Amino acid sequence: MTTPTLTSKPVAGAETAPAGLPDVASLARLAGEFFAALPTSAAPAGVSNGLPLGLSHLGGPSQAGTPPQPPEPALAVGARAPALAPVAQTQTGQPDRFAQAAPAVAPRLGPLQGVPEGQAASAQAHAPAAPAAATASPFYFLGDEGGAARAYPGVAASPAGGAEDRVDARAFGLPGEDTLRALLAGPGTARGAGAPALARDPAPPSGARFYFAEPAPVPTGGAAGGPPPLDVNAVRRDFPILRERVNGKPLVWFDNAATTHKPQAVIDRLAYFYAHENSNIHRAAHELAARATDAYEAARDKVRRFIGAASTEEIVFVRGATEAINLVARTWGAQNVGAGDEIVVSHLEHHANIVPWQQLAAEKGATLRVIPVDDSGQLRLDEARRLITGRVRIVALTQVSNALGTVTPVREIVAMAHAVGARVLVDGAQSVSHLRVDVRQLDADFFVFSGHKIFGPTGIGVVYGKRELLEHMPPWQGGGNMIADVTFERTLYQPPPNRFEAGTGNIADAVGLGAALDYVERIGIDNIGHYEHALLAYATQGLLSVPGVRLIGTAADKASVASFVLRGYTTEEVGRALNQEGVAVRTGHHCAQPILRRFGVETTVRPSLAFYNTCEEVDLLVAVVRRLAGARR
Ligand code: ALA
Repeated sequence: MTTPTLTSKPVAGAETAPAGLPDVASLARLAGEFFAALPTSAAPAGVSNGLPLGLSHLGGPSQAGTPPQPPEPALAVGARAPALAPVAQTQTGQPDRFAQAAPAVAPRLGPLQGVPEGQAASAQAHAPAAPAAATASPFYFLGDEGGAARAYPGVAASPAGGAEDRVDARAFGLPGEDTLRALLAGPGTARGAGAPALARDPAPPSGARFYFAEPAPVPTGGAAGGPPPLDVNAVRRDFPILRERVNGKPLVWFDNAATTHKPQAVIDRLAYFYAHENSNIHRAAHELAARATDAYEAARDKVRRFIGAASTEEIVFVRGATEAINLVARTWGAQNVGAGDEIVVSHLEHHANIVPWQQLAAEKGATLRVIPVDDSGQLRLDEARRLITGRVRIVALTQVSNALGTVTPVREIVAMAHAVGARVLVDGAQSVSHLRVDVRQLDADFFVFSGHKIFGPTGIGVVYGKRELLEHMPPWQGGGNMIADVTFERTLYQPPPNRFEAGTGNIADAVGLGAALDYVERIGIDNIGHYEHALLAYATQGLLSVPGVRLIGTAADKASVASFVLRGYTTEEVGRALNQEGVAVRTGHHCAQPILRRFGVETTVRPSLAFYNTCEEVDLLVAVVRRLAGARR
């Protein structure tokens, strides 16, 4: 066989290279060395089988009597790349300025770590959103659903614990505080006339303080064992798709709220399952059935651990968050909601957390009520208090808005609901990958999420339900796996979780989800949250500096999402221009039409960040938007 030459024109019939170039054998050897040195194929210390990661476990002969072992959990980072090392070099040899600086903010997760001096960026407060289109709906809303926001005595602006969200300007190589204040306050900035006062002023009357607009505290953490900084360049090496090119440019993936990419560890785990474990899950039948069952149940336990559930019996596998909510509506809902009862959702909800409840309400003669938001996109707790009465059977609430990024005060809502005997379903589709979830601490009755939004496969998701609730709920689908005994006269059902898993489930992808959670735990969800929060602050500052940009969603507590519209452009035009540069964002209504209409728009451009995104990628996004803005003033 002839080794292909690496010259642009093949040299017919010759293995010798043209004069001046290395010969083919040398090139092949160099290429081999190069690829062997890539992180994904390096043989790191600590790999149990001693073979290179990624492929070593596939197809290797198993030792007699020793079943093949699945890939090491979370090995892509833990064993191969120094993802938690203080600073890695970029491929250009430059240290990553974000990795050096992060975590530079104190969001929900505690004090600053690793920042030499607390020098805050006093960025401008966000210009108030356009007044809500007053869609007075006596059916859905109690009272004024969204007009002028008020101050809420006794309600913390930062709902999840009171920590202010701040950003250190120098974390991003930005000007110092004074310069930045002057820049942002000056004419010609994105601050429109009548924009709220600068950051250090007290909260504007709306209570909607911009989330990075407060001075940063002097950091106190670091020495006391805080999390090490996240090394984004090492993380990026774990995600092979990030090496793709789009329109000749490196892919920039800012569509993480739609779906996330998969680390090599997840890809490898799926391949391993099909190569070594594939079977239906009927443990006693044969060896592969036992392996598949073990892998599937191990994944269930990983989910349990990740969200802080008490027992694997509280973890039901489904296709995704949408199916999860439908399951609860059609089982618990059908059993517990009746005529005259009320179901409460929030104005922020994804269609998946509206439609099933609307259907249930219509079937039962119940009423759907909606907690409004203020002009920042945060829930109005005063209105929630009015809405959550003894008539309410269940409150279904997102923890993070997919369209605006608002982090909602779930614990407060749970407390309100429980005080009147109502149950709470928390939609965690957009939260689990960004902030630590503990279902017992939240005291959520149900918590749902999708695997593909937390670096796992599509087609797998989770319903967490308190055991005492699941035990009394009827099944929603009938078939194999969910029964204890069947005669033609009657069927006895399995206890949870099997009662809710009729038929052959998505076994491999559940296992893949387990690998994704291992991966996230290895990086550390708090590290991820810190990093993403600072990156979101950076993106927000950048976008707000572009004339004509209007952010949709400026709550004090946000995660991942920087929805915006650009004056003079349709959102689709912006999306297409970004795609030309390799940047993927979602444009459209994001399956959350009610909340976008609340802000007077039908669609937005929605960059949504993950922990593998970088400041350089944000710079590119902002540069494209700035170029567009300049072209149509
Ligand atoms: N729910 C997903 C999104 O927000 C699809 O894009």
